[in-house]
Amino acid sequence: MGMLNAIGLQNPGVDKVVDEILPGLDFEETRFIANVCGSTIEDYAAVTRRFDDSPIDAIEINISCPNIKEGGVSFGNYPEMSAKVVAACRSATSKPIIAKLSPNQTDIQENARLCIEAGADGFAVINTVMGMAIDVEARQPIIGNVRGGLSGPAIKPIALLKVHQVHEIAKVHNVPIIGQGGIVTAEDALEFIIAGATTVGIGTALFYDPLACRKINDGIAQYLARHEIPSIAALVGSLQL
Ligand SMILES: Cc1cc2nc3c(=O)[nH]c(=O)nc-3n(C[C@H](O)[C@H](O)[C@H](O)COP(=O)(O)O)c2cc1C
Repeated sequence: MGMLNAIGLQNPGVDKVVDEILPGLDFEETRFIANVCGSTIEDYAAVTRRFDDSPIDAIEINISCPNIKEGGVSFGNYPEMSAKVVAACRSATSKPIIAKLSPNQTDIQENARLCIEAGADGFAVINTVMGMAIDVEARQPIIGNVRGGLSGPAIKPIALLKVHQVHEIAKVHNVPIIGQGGIVTAEDALEFIIAGATTVGIGTALFYDPLACRKINDGIAQYLARHEIPSIAALVGSLQL
């Protein structure tokens, strides 16, 4: 059903990414999005500024990180704090900014509204859902960090509802959504698109099916042909209520 992880956000640091990794990527063929995290608002802005002066196509802000100046609560769990991060990144770049929203909050629509006001150009919905697992013999958490992020098919219904809710706000401002959370098949991807996602992201499924994206693309093409729908654009947010 899913995967619980607390691997952290391992990466070699923004300087190494910009100076050594980006020059080796083929920007002709593929669009690349940098996923930015930070422990303070200043961190987010500094990393975003570094990417502004690089060939990266867009910057996705992972606002689910702990805010060390506010006792470690996640920026993304609070609309005002999320908006402050987006505003700081907005002033650090002219590239498109995608705010990656957390499902671990009460009012994702308010969060989306404030992020748009702060300058977000798009959303990624959703990040992992916080969870835990216990080893009953040792009576200890299985994840060393106690809590972990749950991903994969188990979270799909949660993600789908969040995409539907964020779309209600985002469509008014023409702000696109990357839908993600448990997508494995073309039908899963189509559900997200009908709920309001312009495109989809695949994470956990790639751990056990590295060709999932190709199968999903083929399945979407077959669906469009079967229903005589000219393009995915005609499907986005086409949910009949
Ligand atoms: C191993 C792993 C690492 C992840 N790392 C990041 C990350 O660095 N930044 C981020 O915004 N989300 C990260 N995520 C969250 C995923 O991008 C995605 O939002 C989530 O897993 C739901 O999609 P999925 O069910 O298709 O995996 C990670 C997820 C997994 C499973």
